[in-house]
Amino acid sequence: MKYASDFKKDNQKITMVTCYDYSFAKILNDSDIDAILVGDSLGMVIYGHSDTLKVSLEMMVSHTEAVRRGAPNKFIVADMPFLSTRKGLEIAMDSAHSLMKAGANAIKVEGVRGQEKIILAFIEAGIPVMGHLGLTPQYYQNLGGFKVQGKGLDAEEELIAQSRVLTNLGVFSIVLECVPSFLASKIQTEVDVPIIGIGAGVNVCGQVLVLNDLLGITEDKFKFVRHFSCLKKDILTSVNSYCDSVRDHSFPSKEESFQ
Ligand code: KIV
Repeated sequence: MKYASDFKKDNQKITMVTCYDYSFAKILNDSDIDAILVGDSLGMVIYGHSDTLKVSLEMMVSHTEAVRRGAPNKFIVADMPFLSTRKGLEIAMDSAHSLMKAGANAIKVEGVRGQEKIILAFIEAGIPVMGHLGLTPQYYQNLGGFKVQGKGLDAEEELIAQSRVLTNLGVFSIVLECVPSFLASKIQTEVDVPIIGIGAGVNVCGQVLVLNDLLGITEDKFKFVRHFSCLKKDILTSVNSYCDSVRDHSFPSKEESFQ
């Protein structure tokens, strides 16, 4: 089991994937992955919503519990859902507490501006915090959609400044999503904590991907995604083969039936 303090800037890249359920978590528990993210992307990937804004604390708790049951030995980060850090310190602290009780080792907070005190309070209370900057999907309405961030000098400087603020607050790592590679690389050299990139190029300390994208289950393929498997095709082939076997009476066989 890793701890937040094991996330360091060194030559060994940090690997992270999302996971939302027990079955996949069980497989990941046997894998080489360094960390699992119970991301609020589950609102889109699992529940079919068009964004992450409808994800509730109850959903995050339930999925975090399932992932912890499947992956007892992995470092798990759980996302603070939309607005859970914006309704005052007590609600934020209760929400983070629920995620930690559900089995998370750390929480992830999107953005920083206006949340500095709350992030500091989490860290002082013993809750490791992972930051998330760049394309922060909970803010997509303000960002003009799901698109590359940090374009232009002002935007670049603001992202660097936000990374410094987060680092000074004491986050152990920062997810940087959809920013030009040169900027991600610059941010990585400016801050002491490891940057975990997604759509941020190769010059950062680690990478995170949505598991369903990595496995080729999801249909849309963003530029920054690589399908390391074609599970959608394999699943379709398997299900159609099952249908054929049922229809031609070859399933179940005698051996697969109780005599
Ligand atoms: O919710 C999520 O899956 C995420 C990753 C895309 C970084 O935040």
